[in-house]
Amino acid sequence: MTSATYSSVAHTHDLAPDRPDHRAFDGFRWTDENAETATAHIAKYPAGRQASAVMPLLDLAQRQIGAQTDTQGWLPIPVIEYVANQLEMPYMRVYEVATFYTMYNLAPVGKFHVQLCGTTPCMLRGSDDVMRILNEKGIHKGKTTPDGLFTLTEVECMGNCANAPMLQINDDNYEDLDAESTARVIDALAAGEQPKPGSQIGRRSSEPVGGVTSLHEFAA
Ligand code: FES
Repeated sequence: MTSATYSSVAHTHDLAPDRPDHRAFDGFRWTDENAETATAHIAKYPAGRQASAVMPLLDLAQRQIGAQTDTQGWLPIPVIEYVANQLEMPYMRVYEVATFYTMYNLAPVGKFHVQLCGTTPCMLRGSDDVMRILNEKGIHKGKTTPDGLFTLTEVECMGNCANAPMLQINDDNYEDLDAESTARVIDALAAGEQPKPGSQIGRRSSEPVGGVTSLHEFAA
């Protein structure tokens, strides 16, 4: 990939520029329900340690933006500022957290945030086939489809190596994928259906294909 190509690719983890239209979120406030949830998160920590709630509050804020925009949500700068103010933290401290973890989107994403693991076990088990099918369906890395449905991000190991290759789509994992099952999952989501998450070849968790070969019964 040339540097020119690379620089033209928006990434969900590149902080969106602080443009005036993003300041549309200046009036961000918790919904009543989320205000209670935020207070409950903060109350889990001793007095003076409210900064410990920064991660659940950023996640909550992202989900609220998602609910308001019918997407998976993101964290515009004014929303990061809002969380920083509530926790009495310097903006930069909260920004550091938001930019460290890829679970936080720093640019708008679609209704379905498709995260493809491309790390070695998934690559050896066929993540290139998964990527090929996504591309054939018009879903490209670092882009959101014109209909606003799908955003694709390539990520590092998601801890599902025993069920590789895998996709995380929103809060669900789809595992043991191949080209055919990838197409089936994407087509179902596009049709407004909810495909069954987990192994796409029917095995339970990461048990051997064909069932367990030992430890058939749990000890009482
Ligand atoms: S390498 Fe893909 S989940 Fe671990």
